[in-house]
Amino acid sequence: MLDCLQEYNIDANIRLLASARSKGKVINDLVVEELTPESFKGVDYVLGACENDVTKKWMPWAQEAGCVVIDNSSAYRLDDNVPLVVPEINPEDIFKHQGIIANPNCSTIIALMALHDIDNLYHINRIICTTFQAVSGAGVKGISDLEREIQDIHAAPEAFQYQIAYNVIPQIGGFDENGITSEEWKMQNEGRKILHSPDLKVSCTCVRVPVWRSHSESIMAECDQEVDLNEIRQALSHSEGVQLKDDPDQLIYPMPILTTNQDDVFVGRLHKDPTDESGKTVSLFCAGDQIRKGAASNAVQILKKLIEKENQA
Ligand SMILES: NC(=O)c1ccc[n+]([C@@H]2O[C@H](COP(=O)([O-])OP(=O)(O)OC[C@H]3O[C@@H](n4cnc5c(N)ncnc54)[C@H](OP(=O)(O)O)[C@@H]3O)[C@@H](O)[C@H]2O)c1
Repeated sequence: MLDCLQEYNIDANIRLLASARSKGKVINDLVVEELTPESFKGVDYVLGACENDVTKKWMPWAQEAGCVVIDNSSAYRLDDNVPLVVPEINPEDIFKHQGIIANPNCSTIIALMALHDIDNLYHINRIICTTFQAVSGAGVKGISDLEREIQDIHAAPEAFQYQIAYNVIPQIGGFDENGITSEEWKMQNEGRKILHSPDLKVSCTCVRVPVWRSHSESIMAECDQEVDLNEIRQALSHSEGVQLKDDPDQLIYPMPILTTNQDDVFVGRLHKDPTDESGKTVSLFCAGDQIRKGAASNAVQILKKLIEKENQA
């Protein structure tokens, strides 16, 4: 977040808030303060990055103090009064906020960055997706699980259900009665809201992989009309925040190692689904840094739009 604020030239007095565990820690010359009900007094904007239970505890304090909160948790994402925004896709929703703007789920942001131009061209009605999600998607604890297991393969996992080093785990979030996890529902629920596409259907399998950073996704998108791959390539090559990496003969395709620590989502491996004779289903692979575009950069881009609007007024 701090790097992004600097890169997006946001000039602000910044305060860092966390739990008592982090009180006094120094990050980029800023001393971390313990979050209390008084912390938000005099603050204009809050960038939230806590788990849902913690967010729900402090959100009323921030609202009471009149702050506009851009929140990374999923606590308020589906609330009717809370815009859910990817600035390249639905920037107009930002200004409908009533004090809270939600940042979408990281895999959902990355998938929709790859898909929204295809949706504009042919209207996507169904998505089938498998995600390959980096350990840092589970926060600091996810990174330390992989670090410890690489050093000692018998180290007990803390963030994940099983050893993640040299393994993949087909579970992110808890399962419901249909065998679908909470993470897997997010792409449908949040995708409908961001694309303003209430009938969008998504079947998703979320998989944790031993990658440090950047989520990758294999996606099939079924559209209302036959798709034209050249038209899609043309649209993606002009899409803000997207880089087309689609030249398999030259071994050019998206990989998480290429997207780490930058904002663009890479899209490639474009082809028509050979099992759909109608030609309406496009298949692609994409990757994006879930800490940057999937969280911090997306939040800071929203903040930048709010500040620009305020400066125009
Ligand atoms: N990691 C990702 O790629 C990613 C992407 C998109 C969205 N998200 C979402 O963003 C949120 C944060 O995830 P993360 O990965 O950044 O988690 P994280 O690395 O575990 O960080 C959680 C933060 O919450 C703070 N915190 C915990 N308890 C607190 C309390 N009682 N009072 C004040 N602060 C408290 C922690 O401070 P201490 O260090 O003091 O405990 C820490 O700064 C989650 O809702 C997650 O789903 C994460």
